[in-house]
Amino acid sequence: MNWKVRFVDYPAQFRAMEKEIMETIRTVLSQGDLMLRQQLRDFEANLAAFVGTRYAVGTSNCTDALHLSLRAAGIGPGDEVITVSHTFVATVAAIHHAGAVPILIDIGEDHNMNVDLIKRAITPRTKAILPVHLNGRLCNMSAVMTVAEEQGLLVIEDSAQALGASINGKRGGAFGLAGCFSFYPAKMLGSFGDAGAMTTNSKEMAEKVMSLRDHGRSAPGEVSGWSFNCRLDNLQAALLDLKLKRLPAWITHRRELAALYHRKLSGLKQIYLPPHPTKNGPYFDVFQNYELEAENRDRLVARLKEKGIETMITWGGKGVHQFKSLGLDHFNLPRTERLFQGVLMLPLTTEMANEQIGYVADTIRDFYGA
Ligand SMILES: Cc1ncc(COP(=O)(O)O)c(C=O)c1O
Repeated sequence: MNWKVRFVDYPAQFRAMEKEIMETIRTVLSQGDLMLRQQLRDFEANLAAFVGTRYAVGTSNCTDALHLSLRAAGIGPGDEVITVSHTFVATVAAIHHAGAVPILIDIGEDHNMNVDLIKRAITPRTKAILPVHLNGRLCNMSAVMTVAEEQGLLVIEDSAQALGASINGKRGGAFGLAGCFSFYPAKMLGSFGDAGAMTTNSKEMAEKVMSLRDHGRSAPGEVSGWSFNCRLDNLQAALLDLKLKRLPAWITHRRELAALYHRKLSGLKQIYLPPHPTKNGPYFDVFQNYELEAENRDRLVARLKEKGIETMITWGGKGVHQFKSLGLDHFNLPRTERLFQGVLMLPLTTEMANEQIGYVADTIRDFYGA
């Protein structure tokens, strides 16, 4: 397929930073610093400073960061954790693997957790709320934190898609007991393989996750319990640290591209757009994805493909409760189910030019006869 607009363009990303990337690889490899070395510690310090927490702990991916954070927070068999079905299956899998029961609630018009539904999902077994900040926009965290404080619940944020997003200047991953980030290659801060991290202000949480990620090893020669191998390797950490310096500029560019989509597509009654970036509003969105709802979605996807535009249907078109094999189909989530009938993500990459956004938008307008 000869794409004119790719959904993600890995070679373009590489070309843009090739020299610095190759120099970093050469330094790390020639020093032989491969596991749990200074580059990892530097990245963790810089990530914590960026998010606004005291600690960050690198992990093999975000799924493991979630799983280990839940365990470190003492969540396990018999506990319930409230989250959403409009998320990657990884979020819910982490709850399952910690031994707890996921309780799925519906989303609101911003495609994030409908915070008005949290209270009625609480039972005597509820231990935590796990908000998922989707598409680079934070959940209504003041509402989440208020319910959590009132009800004595822990909050662990799935910030996989929201590095740099904030509300009134406070960044995702800095609200709850822990925030969990993904550096999967397609993420804004993407590694060259799998990588993740958890952030926290709690020394105890940071130390527990550091131990849990490394077979339960803590003090030299000590193992504090059965655990896992979920380390972030040094080479990926060094490359992530290099890219982290560019992230603020990338976010600015993504917000400009999202604003352009908004200008060109608003007014089309067949599509429902995400909130557009505002200069002075409380929410600062980073547009990890540009997710909308579209009438005749499948025909629109086909037309875009004909025109060389690559799109993606979120999670393949199903919420987590709609995967029969997971045994979660007892949840009734009408807004989530309606979303999946029309959900679509348009290409929005750091490397994209304004003309490409214009081409995508014109193709959509043409499809709807506008
Ligand atoms: C919302 C959300 N949660 C969790 C994950 C899992 O992240 P990882 O692939 O780093 O384990 C992802 C990755 O796509 C995600 O988008």
